[in-house]
Amino acid sequence: MINKEMNDALNRQVDAEMYSSNLYLAMYGWLAEKGLPGFAEWMRLQAAEEYEHCMRIFNYIIERGGNVQLGAIPKPGAGWKSVLEVASEVVDHEAKVTGMINNLMDIAIQQKDYAATAFLQWFVTEQVEEENNVGDVLSRVKMIGDNTAALYHLDANLGQRTASPAPEVQE
Ligand code: FEO
Repeated sequence: MINKEMNDALNRQVDAEMYSSNLYLAMYGWLAEKGLPGFAEWMRLQAAEEYEHCMRIFNYIIERGGNVQLGAIPKPGAGWKSVLEVASEVVDHEAKVTGMINNLMDIAIQQKDYAATAFLQWFVTEQVEEENNVGDVLSRVKMIGDNTAALYHLDANLGQRTASPAPEVQE
């Protein structure tokens, strides 16, 4: 059985993951509109991964006999000025998410909720990979600067990315 503090904190993370999914979906739309299908595809896959994260926590709450309560999801941003701005926001956002996961882990440790610490370890590891991947894209975008040909080249590369084989989500 899950205790109330852990349950409430996980509910808020369900909302946060849904927000991440919506944010990346909004970025997908903006990038597709700007004629950058590879960057757009990168964000579409990120949005799908965030939804998986959301459902992973959602299902865990149910599995532990908890109570799922969804909250309001803030409206994501829009009208970015450049790919650099999008990539920078993604990096900042993932750093924020890592902080949220670390806070959840702190709560699980304080509560001596060993099942939750084991569950959250997957997210700790996932954030290392996420931060590394998005940081890599940002570095490349920064290196490109105003070189349009290089931007289109990177766009083509990103379009070849396939969804990372995340572990199965229990439905
Ligand atoms: Fe759900 Fe990108 O962290």
